Order: sequence, then structure tokens, then C-alpha cells
Amino acid sequence: MQDLTWWQHAVVYEVYPRSFQDSDGDGIGDLRGILHRLDYLVGLGVSAIWISPIYPSPMADFGYDVADYCGIDPIFGTMEDFDRLLAEAHSRGLKIILDFVPNHTSDQHPWFLESQSSKDNPKRDWYLWRQEPNNWLSNFGGSGWEKDETTEQYYYHSFLKQQPDLNWRNPDVQAAMFDVLRFWLRRGVDGFRVDVMWLMIKDDQFRDNPANPGYHPGQPSSQRLLPIFNADRPEIHPLVAKMRAVVSEFSSRVLIGEIYLPVQQLMSYYGIDLQGADLPFNFLLLQCAWTAEAVKQVIFDYYSALPSGAWANWVLGNHDQPRIATRIGTRQARVAAMLLFTLPGTLTMYYGEELGMENVPIAPEEVQDPAEKNEPGLGLGRDPERTPMPWDDSVSAGFTTGQPWLPLGDDYERINVVALEKDPASILHLYRSLIDLRRRHPTLVTGRLESLAVENSVLRYQRTSGEQRFAIRLNLGADPVMASVEQGTVLISTQREKTGQMVEGLVELRGAEGLVVAVNHR
Ligand code: GLC
Ligand code: MG
Repeated sequence: MQDLTWWQHAVVYEVYPRSFQDSDGDGIGDLRGILHRLDYLVGLGVSAIWISPIYPSPMADFGYDVADYCGIDPIFGTMEDFDRLLAEAHSRGLKIILDFVPNHTSDQHPWFLESQSSKDNPKRDWYLWRQEPNNWLSNFGGSGWEKDETTEQYYYHSFLKQQPDLNWRNPDVQAAMFDVLRFWLRRGVDGFRVDVMWLMIKDDQFRDNPANPGYHPGQPSSQRLLPIFNADRPEIHPLVAKMRAVVSEFSSRVLIGEIYLPVQQLMSYYGIDLQGADLPFNFLLLQCAWTAEAVKQVIFDYYSALPSGAWANWVLGNHDQPRIATRIGTRQARVAAMLLFTLPGTLTMYYGEELGMENVPIAPEEVQDPAEKNEPGLGLGRDPERTPMPWDDSVSAGFTTGQPWLPLGDDYERINVVALEKDPASILHLYRSLIDLRRRHPTLVTGRLESLAVENSVLRYQRTSGEQRFAIRLNLGADPVMASVEQGTVLISTQREKTGQMVEGLVELRGAEGLVVAVNHR
């Protein structure tokens, strides 16, 4: 993979820092905790970690409300801890990607406090102030406008009222935020995941959004309107290009955008002449039905829409989405892993996926996430997928010596790193083998994806380059099924027993079984 940049063949592992490893007994994960677990990550084979926000924050949205872009929240540690983590990661060949939250600050950020103080404050225009609100909604429920008593005007917030949106049309905001990027790039971070990139610029005339004809009660209230005027505005693209130019002042860094949009619109974030985001996150697998036909369709749609020269990426989970093992079942979670690691492009996984971690039910009195508190009962809460990583079967699962900030799953005595480590048939070993296979065979990263098709409940495709051919057969159904395959050797099977076997012609796949076959040369 000599010709590729590191991030092109990377497996990115998202660490939700509050929940990965606590080092000081306060029940909340921290930077020293991550440091302590670096060797685990190296052993897993991932190449980069993306750490969700660690900046000083009132934690109204658990760090996505930033009060100082160039600091570390004491909950997570100190700048020294960060520098040490970065150095130790780099010495092990691991890259570090930070979360950059440009759309909004905390309402406690000094910029907002100034902006709020008077109509003629020099920072007034750094946020979106209006005499009267329009109909734009907050993604966390209700109006997106909050009346501020000091000046009797309204400010806009795409999320919580504690998260006022910055005015990215203002050149001073751009300059200040670009300096934030440089601050971290100079320290040595390897790139950024940019929070809600598609929301950063709004209509300059603040036109009302139209009603969403498809809305029905029971859906989140934010879906009552179509976000025509406060999302995915054309002016976002020159802005992303500027952001990318800043990142490109430093060598080999990556710019990833969080973007939830239909595939055609998503692709526009690669930018004109690919001068936009290196990787607009591809969330198609998070949203599609888990059938061979549906998955085939998203793979086809994605690669068909990918601009020429653009680098693909796939995501299996993140801190905002139900865990994959809960969504499709623990058996199919293995199939999903085999799918992920045999697709072309950069891959992103979420901590705990390698354990088959599931959503943990959260009792009403334990709810932490504002998305659930604001609109309870609609299933919007993200706490279930943010519970502590189970490391062993001790009290608090080796996550903390204190009281974990969210409950552990009640299966943690069985499903934890130490236990799965001992079981060669575990999903943890499957993850490790798949990542290792990908490392050893660049064809799986850069090779062509061919013969994508569905045969009964089996999704099938090949990855090829030159003479080398891998045939992938994934049974997305629960029942056994016959699948045809070229003559070759099974390199990895989700259920292990076929590993190393020769196959040819028709092979019986069990329910939720997947195979990677090295096809013999003819
Ligand atoms: C992004 C984050 C999410 C956060 C929101 C507001 O979608 O991933 O966790 O709540 O932005 O910052
Ligand atoms: Mg701690």
C-alpha cells in the first residue's frame, strides 16, 4: 500500500472518551484511560483513533458544546495528558483524529458571552441574532430560536439552546476557527472529524422552511419541516474547501465530514475537483435494511455515485446510532464486520463493536442524553450506545474503580475483552483476523469490486487486482442456504469451522455465515 496515504488504508476506531476507560475513579473515561488501552488498540490492528470532543465544556451535549476550542476539559485530563497520548500513539504507529465542532459553541464560550452582552458588541455578528424568529427547528426538539433577555433578540441554535450556532459568513469567525485547526495540527494531530458539516451555513435571508408532507406524529418534531434553508446550502462548499486548504498546510492530515444526506448530495462534499472533504462520512450501512438486496443496492448506489478519483469510506457505527449488534442481531454483526472489512476504501468502527456490544437499556431515571430528555419515548436517546466498554468481569468491568456514569450491560461478565480474548471463536478474534487480512492484502483496500450480486439471501462480490481474486459470500439470512463459489480456499469464515477448507461449486452457508475465499488462479 506504498502509494496510499495512511488514511486511505486506515481502519478508524471511534473512541467515545467518557466511556472507554476511566483512570481516576470518577466513573468517566479520560485521556489517561485511553493511553492505558493503546496497546489493546494496536493489538486489534486499527490504524487511527477518532476521539469525540475532549475540550472544556459544560457538557450539556457531552462535549459537543465547546467552551474553549484550544483546551482540555479537566474531566478528561490536561494538555500534558493529551500531548503524552499523542506521542505514545504515534510511537505505536497509531494516528489521532480529533472532533472539530464548528457549527456551534457552548453558550458559555467567551465569544458567545461577548456576543450576547449588547447589540453593538464587536462579536455580535459572530452568532445568528434576529429581531424575530423564523420557523426553523432545533434538531433536539422545538423551535431553534431562543429569546435572550439582555437584548430582547433571538439567537439560532441547531441543537440545544446551550449550543448557539456560529455565523460562518463572518470572516472573523472563519479566521478564528481556522486558527483552532492550526493549533491542533501544529501539536501534531493527524486530522479532524468535522461535526455536522452540512449544517454550517444557513440561508442569508432566513427564509422559512416548508412543511414536510411525509411527517407523521411519533417522528421527532424536528422532522415536521424540510430543512431546505438551514441545511446543505450551496455556500457550504467554498467553506469546506477553505477548511481543507488549512488542513493541507500540513502534510498527510485528513478531513472527514459528518454528513447525513442522500447519496447524491453527500458526494458534493468531496468538493469541486475533490478540493472538499477527504472523506464525507458514508452512513448508508447505518440506515439500510439488513437484507442482501438492500445492502447490495446501497453498495451499488454508493460506488456509482462516487466522483472519479474520490476515496470511498464506510461506517458501521457511531455514538449517535443504535449499535449494529442490536440493530441486526449478534449473529449478523459478524457478517457486518466481514462486509465492512472487505469493502474498498477507508473504514470506521465504533468502540465495542469488536465485542458485539449491544445497546444497554437505560431506565428513565438514568437518562443522560438531552436528545432523550427533550423528547422522551421516541427512541431518540443515545445513552444506550454510549455505555462503558467492558474490559473484564470485575465490578464495573475494569472500566472504573468508581460508579460508571452510564450503566454497564448486564451481560458484561460474559461479554468483555478478557473473556472474548480467551475464546478463539469470539467476534473479537474475528475482528482481529479480518483487520489483519486487510492489512496483508491491499487488494481488499484498493482492488476492484466486481460481480456484486444477490443469490437467495446471500450477498456476493469479488475483490480483484491483477491475478488476485477474493470471493466474498455473506448470508444475511437466518437459514442455511447454498451458495456457488469459485474453486479456492476459505481464508476466514464468520463461524470458523470452514477456515482453511477448500471449496468449489456449491457451498452450504449456515444462517449468518460469511466466507472470504481466495480464488485459485486458472
Ligand atoms: C453531531 C454529533 C452529536 C451531537 C450533534 C450536535 O451530530 O455527532 O453527538 O449531539 O452533532 O453537536
Ligand atoms: Mg475519569
